[in-house]
Amino acid sequence: MSELRGAITGVHTSVPDYRLTNRELEELVDTNDEWILSRTGISERRILKGVDQGMTRMAVPAVNGLLEKTGTRPEDVDLLICATVTPDMQFPASANIITDECGMVNAFSFDINAACSGFIYALTTADMYIRSGRYRKVIVVGADKMSSIIDYTDRQTCVIFGDAGGAVLMEPDTEGYGLIDHILHTDGAGMQHLHQKAGGSMRPASHETVDAREHYVYQEGQAVFKFAVTKMAEVSEEIMKRNGLTADDVAFLVPHQANKRIIDATAHRMGLDDSKVMLNIQRYGNTTNGTIPLCLHEWEHLLKKGDNLIVSAFGGGFTWGALYLKWAYDPKK
Ligand code: UT7
Repeated sequence: MSELRGAITGVHTSVPDYRLTNRELEELVDTNDEWILSRTGISERRILKGVDQGMTRMAVPAVNGLLEKTGTRPEDVDLLICATVTPDMQFPASANIITDECGMVNAFSFDINAACSGFIYALTTADMYIRSGRYRKVIVVGADKMSSIIDYTDRQTCVIFGDAGGAVLMEPDTEGYGLIDHILHTDGAGMQHLHQKAGGSMRPASHETVDAREHYVYQEGQAVFKFAVTKMAEVSEEIMKRNGLTADDVAFLVPHQANKRIIDATAHRMGLDDSKVMLNIQRYGNTTNGTIPLCLHEWEHLLKKGDNLIVSAFGGGFTWGALYLKWAYDPKK
């Protein structure tokens, strides 16, 4: 018997139908398909349309689908953690809305905000609860409606982001599978390069903040890029080294999808060829907390029990980190 760990035992996602293509963005801002594709790797992203539609409209179907496919009764779920930067409301936590709508009457729940690294922070947190021995069924949600905080007159940010949500179930494992190791970092000084100026307690919403477009993502792309490309590669290599893994041992890199050039640099540093890199940024863009579950779900049918996965992310904060996961199940027939 190996030590008690949290292991992912199922994954499901929900993406909105509307496809915002590079061509359509050409109508909104001074950009073009060639620039977007070559600088970011993105062709289209999904957008959640409609009035009063928050991120839980993607999270709830993702979680319901997860419960169904894993044969989990909602009343058996102990805890739900939701990673998001675009909660339905400032409070209560979106996690509470999800547990209520999904009938998880015995679960407690809370949100985590670590920007684009939120999903790996939340997975690590879920693992800690499971390792305590007190919690057996923990759901981790990663979902964002980035279109609610994107300025569609700012060509540098509007081409990157999209909307999506996903969820995984984590359960105890004592056979050597699950979350083996993690490295997480925060550098609050990075705040100056990537933030949302208004809407918090420092600058509550006012006519002035709305007129100044301060409720949108503010990003100094180049500064963030430089940090992201260095840190994501560094931490991914570090977690391989300290666990004695070579490129041959790694089945897949599961990278946060912020920019294809950041992912390529990370894979290169790890010595991985493209066939071992989960990449779907071309179809979804950067969905912030949605990117990693979107990848896991899309590649689920190729993952085998015992596969070594390196999951890594970089995001606003700055926050970044990498996980070493040993996949816990074979594809379901
Ligand atoms: O997930 C959270 C963390 N976020 C990230 O990791 C994002 C990191 N940053 C990036 O991915 C990239 O910096 C961007 C995609 C945001 C921008 O790409 P870049 O290669 O860093 O472009 P740049 O800011 O250096 O701009 C290069 C040129 C500029 O023109 P000049 O000054 O050289 O004439 C920009 O004005 O490209 C111009 N530009 C555009 N041109 C066409 C910037 N945005 C666009 C655009 N279409 N959408």
